[in-house]
Amino acid sequence: MLSYRHGYHGGNFADVFKHLILVYLIEKLKIKKPFSFIDAFAGAGIYSTEDSFMQKNKEYLNGISKLLNVKTEIVLINKYLDLIKTFNKKEKFKIYPGSCSIASKLTDEKDKLYFSELHNKEFLNLENNFKNDKRVKLEKANSYQTLNKAISTYEGQRLVLIDPSYELKNEYEKVIKLTNHACKQFPEAVYLIWYPVLDTEKTKLFTDAFIKLNLKNTTQIHILLNNSFLRMQGTGFFLVNAPNNMNHEISTSLKTLLEILKEPNKLSSINFKNL
Ligand SMILES: C[S@@+](CC[C@H](N)C(=O)[O-])C[C@H]1O[C@@H](n2cnc3c(N)ncnc32)[C@H](O)[C@@H]1O
Repeated sequence: MLSYRHGYHGGNFADVFKHLILVYLIEKLKIKKPFSFIDAFAGAGIYSTEDSFMQKNKEYLNGISKLLNVKTEIVLINKYLDLIKTFNKKEKFKIYPGSCSIASKLTDEKDKLYFSELHNKEFLNLENNFKNDKRVKLEKANSYQTLNKAISTYEGQRLVLIDPSYELKNEYEKVIKLTNHACKQFPEAVYLIWYPVLDTEKTKLFTDAFIKLNLKNTTQIHILLNNSFLRMQGTGFFLVNAPNNMNHEISTSLKTLLEILKEPNKLSSINFKNL
């Protein structure tokens, strides 16, 4: 049974890094049409600070809240922050948009969106949030079984987000198999795979196994924050078939985010590795 609810973590530091990269990818990739965004682990799409989930640990206070009043010249960060502000009409921050909302805001009329979610209640929330968007196909499905079928129904430029909750015992292995299978069948699609950086050997076992897949055109971004407020000590990504200049184009944004989000006097780092 699934118990993870993304609302507990909505807008935390990992969401901020992930969604900034997502904004970058959608903006770059949607230029080529037809474009589709496939969110295999969708969540609810919208999270509210008035909800008991977000209130529980208030992880957003060490994430998006630290950024809302930042003044910067960096275009990508401003794009991300402007987008967050479109969901918050009044001065006070209340709504944090998940990956589905970010994608639906940034994509064009003819673009297609596919959101898959397995948790019963979370799927109902997702359905409620997107039932009026004609571009969106919603599926209550187990993505470990259905992702390739979903990808096969779209043509052209496809961006696939693999953002699981890693709550099952063998979920790291499942993610490896899922990614390998999808990349083998659809080698031209673009993939963004998220993983948490934990203070245990799990993270190294996962990243080593992922690297061993030897997928072509893959970049790893590994970010360490060493924070004291969460078990998660950082956040990481594998990107397959990302735009050519990505590392150069996002590194200043990621470094700036890290400076704002890290705790003072704690070691932190960002590593880009082309595999
Ligand atoms: C990390 S959250 C997604 C967050 C979202 N992508 C975002 O950035 O806003 C992972 C979601 O995957 C869902 N999930 C877990 N196992 C799944 C599966 N096998 N198939 C589809 N969804 C699943 C969970 O219920 C949870 O809502």
